[in-house]
Amino acid sequence: MSGDLKWNKIFGAGLGTVFAILVVQQVSGAIYATHAPEKMGYLVNVPDEADAGAAEAELPPDWGTVLPAADLAAGEAAFARCQACHNIAAGGPDGIGPNLYGVVGGPVMHRAGFAYSDAMAAHKAEAPTWGYDQLNTFITAPNRYVPGTKMSFAGLRDTPTRINLIAYLRSQGSTGFAIPAPDPARQPGAAAPAEGAAPADAATAGTESGAAPAEAATGAATTQTGDVAPPAATSAPSND
Ligand code: HEC
Repeated sequence: MSGDLKWNKIFGAGLGTVFAILVVQQVSGAIYATHAPEKMGYLVNVPDEADAGAAEAELPPDWGTVLPAADLAAGEAAFARCQACHNIAAGGPDGIGPNLYGVVGGPVMHRAGFAYSDAMAAHKAEAPTWGYDQLNTFITAPNRYVPGTKMSFAGLRDTPTRINLIAYLRSQGSTGFAIPAPDPARQPGAAAPAEGAAPADAATAGTESGAAPAEAATGAATTQTGDVAPPAATSAPSND
């Protein structure tokens, strides 16, 4: 008899504890209720698919190395996408876009008679010459490099195709525009530490200042490449 009572007490105590826990859970749930925010904080401007792997994520091409090796026939074939708007013959007419004969190395807005956009005029004030880097960036994504340009062309994301195309453009009236000497700082692996350099120093070598000494790059060929941008071969597919 007294044994039964003892077990009743033990049971009762156990149930009471469970009840107390449930009550605490419910009450604290009510007090500390969380609501998912309607708009998440720290909204990062995530690049869209077309931006992934775009040119600025890579080292710019080392023109002194890639231009002499470029495929002019492939570049001429790539120019087919430009031909709807651009003539490139010497003395040829302007179309929807200006004639492009001699544009490589020439001034931005190189055709006196063509009605360029205000956006292009503003760009000219900042970067007056169509050097290899400028053309490359423009052709990759015209409206990103020259916001508001009236060249309605989405861009050519494939780096090897762009290189061939720029080599072809150069062959049409711009062979006098020199190809720069190979630049070790632009070659894959240029950001790796030089011989004997402390690894921490490598971080600065990765900036695209082009100031990395030649020894750093030659050393780089045999050492690990760190987190330098991938070489052109991994660029996003062209969206032509
Ligand atoms: C839909 C028509 C169109 C297509 C396609 C097109 N362009 Fe253009 N392009 C234009 C127009 C229009 C301009 C003038 C832009 C402005 O004034 O903002 C221009 C300007 C340019 C310029 C600057 C010329 C200068 O005198 O400063 C270059 C270089 C150029 N285009 C290269 C190309 C290349 C290379 C391709 C092919 C990959 C191409 N374009 C495709 C219409 C086009």
